[in-house]
Amino acid sequence: MIKKKIVAVFLALAGMVAAGCGNSDLMVLTPYGDAVIKEDGTSAGTGAAHASDADKPSADVSDSAAADVADGANGQDASKPAAGGDTSGLLHVGFAQVGAESGWRLAQTQSMKDTFTEENGYIFDFVDCNNNQKTQLQALEQFIENGVQYIILDPIVEDGYDEVLKKAKDANIPVIVVDRKISADASLYACWVGSDFSREGKDAAEWLAAFLSENQRASEEINILTILGSDGASAAIGRTNGFEEIAQNQGGWNLLDKQTGDFTKDGGYAVMKAYLDKYDKIDVVVCQNDDEAFGAVEAIKEAGKTCGPDGDIVIISFDATRAGFEAMIAGDINVDVECNPLEGPFVAELIQKLEKGETVEAIQYMEEGVFAAEEAAAVLPSRVY
Ligand code: AHR
Repeated sequence: MIKKKIVAVFLALAGMVAAGCGNSDLMVLTPYGDAVIKEDGTSAGTGAAHASDADKPSADVSDSAAADVADGANGQDASKPAAGGDTSGLLHVGFAQVGAESGWRLAQTQSMKDTFTEENGYIFDFVDCNNNQKTQLQALEQFIENGVQYIILDPIVEDGYDEVLKKAKDANIPVIVVDRKISADASLYACWVGSDFSREGKDAAEWLAAFLSENQRASEEINILTILGSDGASAAIGRTNGFEEIAQNQGGWNLLDKQTGDFTKDGGYAVMKAYLDKYDKIDVVVCQNDDEAFGAVEAIKEAGKTCGPDGDIVIISFDATRAGFEAMIAGDINVDVECNPLEGPFVAELIQKLEKGETVEAIQYMEEGVFAAEEAAAVLPSRVY
């Protein structure tokens, strides 16, 4: 496995900054349990309340009560702590999550939920933005209005957060950006912790170059298809750029096509089916996450073709979730480039530093590796996501 270290790149000022939901259903996790705010204004509890809160009332919200749920001021339960000015000594943190599109995403959500518990000293407002930036911007606005003390933002796309970040900064709410990057000026948020997506793309291409060389195929014409992640997401942009940077120096690599699979299994399946209809000779498929790879493998098998270490089509994937490892062990995927979702503890550490007025690193990369199918069975038992 190739190991990379968490790299602290810059130092940022402490205590500064930052930021602040829409279309489809909105998932809000309060200390009293999850609630889904439906597009049509109706609501439903999910039954996913924290075990420790089992004796507390579940959230019961209406459309106009989104704010009430998020700030714990739901008129139906006066015993809930008020937002911002809560007297319990707990830190009020809002997390605007991308969605629930992939196994990786669920692992990242779990990392945050496990970290920002009441036991650990937090009131945690969670919004699942369902891959919709409008929803995410509304969530951020709501957090600001509710007076949360810190905002965690996993940006769906790179652009379009400047205005809301300015509002958060004016309200003295530090914003910690996680996972994906944004194009906004760094002065508008406290810091960022996530993955080096360009490095991941390069790692994938370098693995492929070594693989082809080891198999005496370095001088062959290699037809490569990419199933992209979501449009505008820095995870997709970085992986594409990184891979293409290395690919351009490889003589016989033909980058035939790249279409978005939206980081989902269904998307990966649909794009792969279209590729199989269109292209006769496919040597490599680069799937920008595990879920897309699972869909692509399904489409390849349905078409009567083979893939993985003993098959005709090389499958490269990203994330390295447990399910990704299982697919490598099953012989479906050749290599999985890790994207580490366990960001919760790092973010908590940053918040604690900011609380003490300490400086924090402006950019922190997660530790990640590259795992080939041959080592998957040995490594799987040590994987935690
Ligand atoms: O931003 C991280 C990417 O988003 C992960 O690779 C993918 O699985 C997720 O949906």
